[in-house]
Amino acid sequence: MVYDNIVLIGFMGSGKTSVGKSLARQLYKEFVDVDTVIEKEQKSSINDIFDSMGEEHFRSLEQTCINEVVQKKGQVIATGGGLPIYSSIPEKSLIVYIDADFDVILKRLSTKERDKRPLLQDTSKAKALFDERINRYEELANFRVDANQSIQTFIHVIFDYILDQRVL
Ligand code: S3P
Repeated sequence: MVYDNIVLIGFMGSGKTSVGKSLARQLYKEFVDVDTVIEKEQKSSINDIFDSMGEEHFRSLEQTCINEVVQKKGQVIATGGGLPIYSSIPEKSLIVYIDADFDVILKRLSTKERDKRPLLQDTSKAKALFDERINRYEELANFRVDANQSIQTFIHVIFDYILDQRVL
């Protein structure tokens, strides 16, 4: 199987964006963050999109956005934590699950980073969401990496795996 793009999935704050930037640099590929593309296209923050148009609308923006982004090949794409739950990830994507525990995620995120995420405001609701989603991430992934340590300690594991795959 030849993959068109590398798609990173995982819960909010698991490190998809940081991992994606680093991987893209090491692989000489372009990095794309779906949330950032949506924010640019909508000229609005994720918080404002949720507030003014609602979560359901945001989910349809995510599906449209990932479909558009994969028109190009050879990219490392970071998705929002809900994208693989509500949208289908286009075929020929090599899906890597960045798997961090809930308590690790909470410790890692600054207040500023937490404030950017509407679904992370209430910790017990966020934990329920985490529990609901993790099996789906696992199911979808071609590869799962334990992301409970610092990125430097696990990035080479993903790098080595990807080098063994045929990604355009
Ligand atoms: C969401 C995750 C966020 C962002 C939005 C909704 C989710 O992205 O798309 O706040 O439903 O898990 P990150 O995973 O980058 O935080």
